[in-house]
Amino acid sequence: MATMGVMTGVPHDVFALARSARTVTVLTGAGMSAESGVPTFRDAQTGLWTQVAPEDLATPEGWERDKAYVNAWFLWRVHLVRSVEPNAGHYAIARWAAFPDREIRIVTQNIDDLHERAGSPVLAHVHGSLFEWRCDRCERPAPTPEPPFATTGPIDHIAPDQCIHCASGEIRPGVVWFNEPLPQDSFFKAALVCRDADLVLVVGTSGIVQPAATLPHLAMAAGVPVIELDPRPTEFSPYATHVWRTTAALGLPALVDALADQARGGIE
Ligand code: APR
Repeated sequence: MATMGVMTGVPHDVFALARSARTVTVLTGAGMSAESGVPTFRDAQTGLWTQVAPEDLATPEGWERDKAYVNAWFLWRVHLVRSVEPNAGHYAIARWAAFPDREIRIVTQNIDDLHERAGSPVLAHVHGSLFEWRCDRCERPAPTPEPPFATTGPIDHIAPDQCIHCASGEIRPGVVWFNEPLPQDSFFKAALVCRDADLVLVVGTSGIVQPAATLPHLAMAAGVPVIELDPRPTEFSPYATHVWRTTAALGLPALVDALADQARGGIE
């Protein structure tokens, strides 16, 4: 999908930073999966939060208020993610990781599995995963429930499964809702790989939600250059070492192609 008005040629200093970096941390947000057909949260008109209220669907209070409503919405998202494919941006990161003497670490706010399906291990899913469900009482892991519908549109209410281990629990998505703590180990690893990288790429996040939005600032504070790759300005744009107004599925393949050309001696 070509997005009008964004750059596909690789800016020189983006290329120079990427070429010299041996350890790269890629921080991704919903924009990384947008060209796969997974809606972002805050894009005007198409963002999920413009269609439904986050306080009803992504908070513990919303879950306690109406579990069947929240369960149905997340099952629709399981169905949606299963029905789409990783995009050229996901595959480009996996290709880059295969370069000799390069280490690419992925930290994502996304709860989808598109990086993994493109062949990349994900070091940290700082907001959890659509495919790690658990009991809301005893917290034991549970298999991802099967979305009961073939339709693409969400169904209003689907009662959550009962926990088979404890009498009172019901199965909830293993994602981090607003007002919930992030998985500590996950966030700690994310912070570490922002500070010890030669380069950090921030792809497709508005930089609004804390503490994930702190991560690129940790890199900057450690003297690590940070490139923002996003078609629109974000909260982080004023601080980035370089801002590249392009999309994940256009910019990342162009960058990795240029690096591959240079490695073959194509570009001096
Ligand atoms: N390529 C790159 N970036 C894109 C693309 C694209 N094709 N399309 C949109 N974007 C950018 C938008 O410009 C925006 O900056 O992706 C970003 C999406 O921002 P959000 O919708 O706010 O998503 P994100 O930053 O990941 O949200 C963070 O908020 O609701 C919570 O838990 C949820 O993890 C999520 C967190």
